[in-house]
Amino acid sequence: METPHTRTAPVSGPDALRLTVDSPEAMRRLGLRLAGVLRPGDLVLLSGELGAGKTTLTRGLGEGLGVRGAVTSPTFVIARVHPSLTGGPALVHVDAYRLAGGLDEMEDLDLDVSLPDSVVVVEWGDGKVEELSADRLHVRIDRATGDELPAGVADADVDDVRLVTVGGVGERWSGGALDGLRERGAEGAYGQEG
Ligand SMILES: Nc1ncnc2c1ncn2[C@@H]1O[C@H](COP(=O)(O)OP(=O)(O)OP(=O)(O)O)[C@@H](O)[C@H]1O
Ligand SMILES: [Mg+2]
Repeated sequence: METPHTRTAPVSGPDALRLTVDSPEAMRRLGLRLAGVLRPGDLVLLSGELGAGKTTLTRGLGEGLGVRGAVTSPTFVIARVHPSLTGGPALVHVDAYRLAGGLDEMEDLDLDVSLPDSVVVVEWGDGKVEELSADRLHVRIDRATGDELPAGVADADVDDVRLVTVGGVGERWSGGALDGLRERGAEGAYGQEG
């Protein structure tokens, strides 16, 4: 049994998916594909240092979900709701960087949206918003260092290469829930599994 509310991101577990993403455009494509596996009520926690690509991924996700409004880095806004244009779930994009109080503070934001009907994506949410859901998807984005570069991305600009680890916690993400991410998009691969 998975312990709910565990604070340790499971992104290094055996079921975690490791992807190499070698450009901002490829990160956007990963977001598009991620949109295809997400359902209303899903919680996605994005981690990675400043400038890792969390918002870039969320932008592709918003595009894939078909939501209104540009997904941007909110400087003064902690959370932004992007309603669906297609009858699907809204995207709630949270930047928890300055959310010192964690979940209580987020609940105080009084978002005019039903979280169970939305896809909630939280940047910098690790250790802060896990209580929102026993089921959640952790996506960690790391910059690649030279010796981690998989074969085949040697031609990419090394500074643009990201190693993305995706792992789920809870029943929602057991089984093959992430299989849709393994396939290559029609527009081309965003990377290869390492
Ligand atoms: N493979 C890549 N994936 C994503 N972004 C990349 C990649 N290569 C280069 N970049 C650049 O890195 C930057 C990522 O910025 P982004 O705002 O998405 O990061 P972030 O993780 O949301 O940062 P913050 O923690 O400040 O919110 C962009 O300027 C983007 O063009
Ligand atoms: Mg960001």
